[in-house]
Amino acid sequence: MYGEVVPAAAFADRVVELDRLVRDLAAAQKVFLISPRRYGKSSLIRLALAAMARRGVLTVDVTVSSFSSYVAFLEGYARALAAAETRAERARTWLRDAISSTLVEIGPDLRAASLPPAGGRPPGPTVSFPNARTDRDVSRLAEEVFALPARLADTRRRPVVVALDEFQAIAGFNGGSVEHALRAAVQRQRDVGYVFAGSEPSLMERMLAARRPFYKAGPVMRLDKIPADEFATFVDRRFLRSGMKPEPGLGAAIVELAGNLPYDVQRLAHETWDEVRGRNRRRATLDDLHQTLWRMLAEQQTMFEATWQRLTLPQRAVLRAVVLEQGTELLSADVRTRHRLGGPSTVQTALAALVRDDVVTREPDGYAVVDSLLREWVARQTF
Ligand SMILES: Nc1ncnc2c1ncn2[C@@H]1O[C@H](COP(=O)(O)OP(=O)(O)OP(=O)(O)O)[C@@H](O)[C@H]1O
Ligand SMILES: [Mg+2]
Repeated sequence: MYGEVVPAAAFADRVVELDRLVRDLAAAQKVFLISPRRYGKSSLIRLALAAMARRGVLTVDVTVSSFSSYVAFLEGYARALAAAETRAERARTWLRDAISSTLVEIGPDLRAASLPPAGGRPPGPTVSFPNARTDRDVSRLAEEVFALPARLADTRRRPVVVALDEFQAIAGFNGGSVEHALRAAVQRQRDVGYVFAGSEPSLMERMLAARRPFYKAGPVMRLDKIPADEFATFVDRRFLRSGMKPEPGLGAAIVELAGNLPYDVQRLAHETWDEVRGRNRRRATLDDLHQTLWRMLAEQQTMFEATWQRLTLPQRAVLRAVVLEQGTELLSADVRTRHRLGGPSTVQTALAALVRDDVVTREPDGYAVVDSLLREWVARQTF
């Protein structure tokens, strides 16, 4: 249930955000969707694309960070676009027309071989660019691939929506030139909506800064946490609907323990539900929640120990302070003395390292441990 993109019925809140995203994409806007990790961007995107697909829009969804090189990304992107062409033969012709023939190699289409598609979605033909060797080849190819969505909209006579998830990874491919090429292409595509989603807010915000290609390219949506009380009600209701009666306050306790992070809320709720079901009971109590928490902490003990071992002593001290002080006032003389943190610059260096390693994240009102289980472990098992 958790760790995957959630089905609509398992989706809490986000009504306003979903509505806005669908409306913007339907208007062929180029939307930037930004939040820290695991706030629910991908889930929101999938839901928006599904809603649009039901209305006849062609949707394409690519996770930029899953490719090991720029060319691999271009191949994957072209393939995903070709898969939106339902008839295999037409997809091949279409690709051949659109891409300089010396560069593209189009492999067998699994649909044609009438094999069941591996991942539910028809995979389309495999596309590879083995002859793209020089930088010039690659940028010509990129220009052609980035133009494909508009061609798709044209030939199929349907609106197209493209989601590029984990978009911050684009910066790692080829420096600024990818951004320029992509921006130039999407700007011209009046029938294609885009959503660029990224989970490293600082990288994404920098991409939108003045003098960068995507400056003012389109609306920016910053996803917040789901309001705690709504999420708590949602969790309680999910227990009830599965025939299990939650003790009053259970949903709220789960949301609080999970730091109100959607992923952690779902994980803790699911594990608690599993615990209760395993005992064949119909009531889920706060006690069950705490038992579940202890079990999960024990299961992850080795991993948390390894994380802890990797940290320098100042980083350990600062991590403990983040946990015990709820992430605020870490530079104050009082907190530094109480937790023996050393001078402000030592604290800042340690914090920066913890953020870079994704152990701690910066939130509007201070710092927080990314993994709420690690937070509980630090609070209970370190000194
Ligand atoms: N609105 C929601 N209601 C209930 N659960 C949600 C909701 N949004 C997200 N989740 C839960 O949080 C998990 C993480 O969500 P998702 O993968 O969409 O986040 P993300 O922001 O894309 O994360 P990442 O930055 O790591 O890619 C999901 O697997 C799901 O369990
Ligand atoms: Mg995601």
